[in-house]
Amino acid sequence: MTLHFLRDDDLGPEQQAQVLDLAAAMKRAPYDAKPLVGPQSVAMIFDKPTLRTQTSFGAGIAELGGNPLLVEGRLAGIGIRESVEDVARVLGGQVSAVVWRTFHQSDLELMAAHSGVPVVNALTDDFHPCQLIADLLTVRERCGGLAGLTVAFVGDAACNMGNSWLLAGTTAGMHVRVSAPEGFMPAPEMIQRATEIGATTGGSALAVPDPVKAVAGADVVVTDTWISMGKENEEQAREVVFGDWSLTADLLAHAAPDAVVLHCLPAYRGKEITAEVLDGPQSAVWDEAENRRHAQKAVLAFLLADGAPPPVGGDP
Ligand code: NVA
Repeated sequence: MTLHFLRDDDLGPEQQAQVLDLAAAMKRAPYDAKPLVGPQSVAMIFDKPTLRTQTSFGAGIAELGGNPLLVEGRLAGIGIRESVEDVARVLGGQVSAVVWRTFHQSDLELMAAHSGVPVVNALTDDFHPCQLIADLLTVRERCGGLAGLTVAFVGDAACNMGNSWLLAGTTAGMHVRVSAPEGFMPAPEMIQRATEIGATTGGSALAVPDPVKAVAGADVVVTDTWISMGKENEEQAREVVFGDWSLTADLLAHAAPDAVVLHCLPAYRGKEITAEVLDGPQSAVWDEAENRRHAQKAVLAFLLADGAPPPVGGDP
């Protein structure tokens, strides 16, 4: 059966740990694994803007011995010029894997159902699972582990990043608190799914509306833009409601003294995070951005090897 990475809980706790170990090994030895040598091609399709995702996948696929094939979403017109199913069948005959950033999770699922090759979610409205592998790798590097840590996600928690933190964080055995204004909390099903996962890993998921309470004592504090791609027409209204959830030095002072700050970028200084925090000593955002490449290489190697990739590099 072809493996895909469509949402964070496609990887169980052991598989997530395996991918994180592989990503760490690939970071130490970036040119050791060549599962795409040939070169085999991987299609990268973007229906939304991208910088980190395109460059990290492009460089990463090349490092794996493959050919990153950029498919311009507007020209391909997937679901417009032809159906997702037809595109999936065509791509499955050309490439070894498909990386797709698009709007609807259901379209990604259709692609996976019909392509016959691994499909990777490069961000949808609902999830950003590759970002979470990079985020968890970054936290592991800074904190030495994941299980038992508390993470506070403050801001627009009803978006892909809020959902992905709930699922991936609890898979890693973390305690995930999400904090947002009314109307911007994750859907109850997301909290419920994360709670189910946490019951098997020792993690937990909690909606904590008050940002100060959410951040209190947290080991990791995460935020994201208030205006996700596709929400640009809501900018003015959102800036009014999100003010108290801005990650300022005052808010961060409630977290553990050495709490790690993450932001998937792009960041808007003075909005969801202040310059002082983003550019300050607790911020790990540049490592986090670099880790996208190592994380996604590990995801691809894992999927291409049906979950059993060969070891990489020497001992840590
Ligand atoms: N929530 C943001 C993430 C950007 C990487 C968005 O969807 O635009």
